[in-house]
Amino acid sequence: MRAADLIIKKRDGAAMTGEEIQWLIHSYLKNEVPDYQMAAWLMTVFFSSMNAKETAALTLAMAHSGRMIDLSAVPGIKVDKHSTGGVADTTTLILAPLVAAAGVPVAKMSGRGLGFTGGTIDKLEAIPGFQATLSEDIFKANLLRHGIAITGQSPEIAPADGRLYALRDVTGTIESIPLIASSIMSKKIAAGADKILLDVKVGSGAFMKDLNQGISLATAMVQIGQQVNRETVAVISNMDEPLGQAVGNSLEIKEAIEVLSGHGPVALRNVCLLLGAHMLLLAQKVSSVEAGEELLKKLIENGEALRKFRDFIAAQSGNSQITTEPALLPQASLVETVVSPIGGYVQQIDASFIGYCAMLLGAGREKKGDTIDLSAGLVLHHRVGDKIEEGEPLITLHGNKQDMIHIVSDKVKQAIVIKENRIVPPPLVLGIVDQNGFRPS
Ligand code: URA
Ligand code: CA
Repeated sequence: MRAADLIIKKRDGAAMTGEEIQWLIHSYLKNEVPDYQMAAWLMTVFFSSMNAKETAALTLAMAHSGRMIDLSAVPGIKVDKHSTGGVADTTTLILAPLVAAAGVPVAKMSGRGLGFTGGTIDKLEAIPGFQATLSEDIFKANLLRHGIAITGQSPEIAPADGRLYALRDVTGTIESIPLIASSIMSKKIAAGADKILLDVKVGSGAFMKDLNQGISLATAMVQIGQQVNRETVAVISNMDEPLGQAVGNSLEIKEAIEVLSGHGPVALRNVCLLLGAHMLLLAQKVSSVEAGEELLKKLIENGEALRKFRDFIAAQSGNSQITTEPALLPQASLVETVVSPIGGYVQQIDASFIGYCAMLLGAGREKKGDTIDLSAGLVLHHRVGDKIEEGEPLITLHGNKQDMIHIVSDKVKQAIVIKENRIVPPPLVLGIVDQNGFRPS
C-alpha cells in the first residue's frame, strides 16, 4: 500500500477498507508515513467525513496502537464514563465514588485540563498527598479492593491518538465528528471498559455548540460502540451555563463533597443522579433509570457515597480528612465577592466566559505545561431563572494575586445578563442517544 493512493481514494469519495486504515495508522506510528501525508489524509477526512465502518476501524487501529488494559480479573461489568468537557463540571468526582458505592467497579483514566475546562486529575491533585499516577498493578489492586481507582492518562494508551491529536491541533482538523469520536472511544476501549456512558455537553460552554452537533457526535460514538461490541449510551445535557457553582480545583472538590453529603447545587446533583443511574443500568445493577436514581439517592442519604470517596482518597495516599474538614484543601489568600449592579432575573450565564475568568485567576492553563493555582477559582451564587436584588452577592472570587482579582472583578459581571423579566430556566437534560437513536427528554 502507498499513503498517496489512500489519500487520493479518500479525496475522491471512496470508503476505505479496515485494512487500509489499519495500515495507515500503523505506518504513521512507525514513522513510515510522514506528517505531511497524514495531515493531507486528515484534511480529506475533515471534508469528506467517514462512514460508521471506517470510523470503527480507525478507533480500533488507534486503540490497538498501544497497551490494551485487561480488567477481566476484576469481577463485574466495568462501565467507564466520559464527559466531553465543560465548565464547572464536577461530575466525575461525584459519580466515581457514588457508582462504586452501588457496587459497580469504577476504573478511570482521566486527563488534565486545558484552557477553561478543568481536568479531573488536576482537581484530585488539590487533595493533599493524593497520588494521581498509579502503576497498572496498583491501579488493579485498588480496583479489586475498593471498587474504584482513578489514574492519569498513560502515554502507553492509544499512542496513535496522541500523535494524531497533536497533528490535528496544528492542521485545522480537530473539529471533525468522526475524528473526535474515534479519538475519545479509542482511549476508552484501550483502558478496558466493557461499556461506556458518554456525557455529551452542548452549548456555549462546550465543544459542541448546539443540539444537532451534540446528537451527531453522540451518534458517531454510540455506533462505534456497536461496531466494536462495547455498548455505549450518551446523555446530552445543556452547557450554556456552568453545571455546578464552583469553578476551580479545590473549590470543585469541596462542591463534590457537598453533593456526596446530600447538599450542593441541585442541577449538578440531578445530572449526576441521571448519569449514575445510566451507569448502573449499563452494569445491569438495576432494571430502570428510575430504580438507579433511587438507589443512588439512598447511598447519598446513608453516607455510603461519601464513605467511598474517603476510602478512595486514602487508597491513593490523599488526606481523607478533607471530606469532613474542607479547609484542609488549598485555600486562596484573597477572597472577594462581586455584587449585582442591578436587580432582576438572571437571563444568561456565559459558561465560557466564566471559565475564562477562573483561568485568569489561576485555576486553568493557557497552554500545555502551565502550572495552575489549585486554590484559585470562583463560586457563582445564582443560576439562570433566579431572582436577584441589587447589591446581592453574584460571584465570589478566590485567588492569590490582587491585580488579577481586580481585573476579573471588573470583567466577570459581563458573563451574567440580568433583566427585569422573569424567565423559565432551560431544560438541563436534552435527551439520550442509544442503539435506537436519539430520544428527547
Ligand atoms: N477529546 C479527545 O479526546 N479527542 C478529540 O478529538 C476531541 C476531544
Ligand atoms: Ca470542568
